[in-house]
Amino acid sequence: MNKKPIILGIETSCDETAAAIIQDDNSGIPKILSNIVSSQFDVHKEFGGVVPELAARSHIEKIDLITNKAIKESKIKITDIDAVAVTGGPGLVVCLSVGLNFAKALSLSINKPFIAVNHLEGHALSPKLNFKIDYPYLLLLISGGHTQYLSVNGLSNYERIGTTIDDALGEAFDKTAKLLGIEFPGGPKIEEFAKKGDCNKFQLPKPILNKGGCNLSFAGLKTAVLKIAKNINNEKDKYNLAASFQKTIEDILCKKTKIAFKEFVKKTKIKDNTFVIAGGVAANKGIRGKLEVISKKNNFKTIFPELKLCSDNAAMIAMAGLEKFKLNKFDNLNFQVNPRWALDENAKFLKGSGVKL
Ligand code: KG4
Ligand code: ZN
Repeated sequence: MNKKPIILGIETSCDETAAAIIQDDNSGIPKILSNIVSSQFDVHKEFGGVVPELAARSHIEKIDLITNKAIKESKIKITDIDAVAVTGGPGLVVCLSVGLNFAKALSLSINKPFIAVNHLEGHALSPKLNFKIDYPYLLLLISGGHTQYLSVNGLSNYERIGTTIDDALGEAFDKTAKLLGIEFPGGPKIEEFAKKGDCNKFQLPKPILNKGGCNLSFAGLKTAVLKIAKNINNEKDKYNLAASFQKTIEDILCKKTKIAFKEFVKKTKIKDNTFVIAGGVAANKGIRGKLEVISKKNNFKTIFPELKLCSDNAAMIAMAGLEKFKLNKFDNLNFQVNPRWALDENAKFLKGSGVKL
């Protein structure tokens, strides 16, 4: 029997240096042979956000060590690798460049194909590391930099149905956390705070809830949180605000997802559809629970990546790389960093105060 393809994935688009090895499998679900992620929380903590130059320096310091660790843990030899897949965008130019140049040099030295992967496609395909999923499917991508509903029609074939017109959802979580005095990145802690609070204590706005189809907006919500947070002087109200924020987000996502379901069904005409929720915020258990309930009611099967594959990792980059490898979709070594690489390049730009919905 021929050896199943083995792909090395590399990810350095923001503040995680990551490398992973996956191997295709007869089951249709690839095996993760190793998945190493090194986060830079400590590097950026005191600045309250990611500092690009510091992030890039940290990637440079670690990329070879992390890649070596991934190869060692997978128990393969470097020459067993069939292709090197790396995030080519979107992300921070100085950070992407580190992974991209490292991957190019490696692919050249082992004489194996080089594959540039869209980071968002990595998130979109991340559940395929655990489940068999057929195209098309509806995707809600909720991360620190992006928030979109997309129809995933095939590999590298996306149609955007809705998008945030201002902040990304992860950004809204992180900013709320900062206002509550939680260290960066505070998104995951909001959930813990929320469990201890009363979600009806503060009424927060739900911007563009009843207009703009399944487009989303979180900027007004952030301003409202800021005003309330300024006057909070006890722990209990911090928990109450976190709970009110969490509940408001759940309500917004439920309403907008129902609209996205309708739009998707109108396009596909399929009765039993799949709804994938991916990206860092997909780790939020409250959001998972609520979306699961409305999906059932609307004949959509929900699929979430396993928790450790929600946030940035290289296994998802290798996954997208494997699908491209199987279709012989390789890239040239002159591929340039693409910091604004969109999944649907035909979608209208919908950001800023002058946006018409
Ligand atoms: O996908 P990701 O790791 O990086 C980007 O590509 O942006 O997403 C990171 C984002 C951060 O904003 C983080 O606060 C948020 O995901 N996040 C969460 C949770 N876990 C991570 N937000 C809400 N609840 C969580 N449990
Ligand atoms: Zn990401």
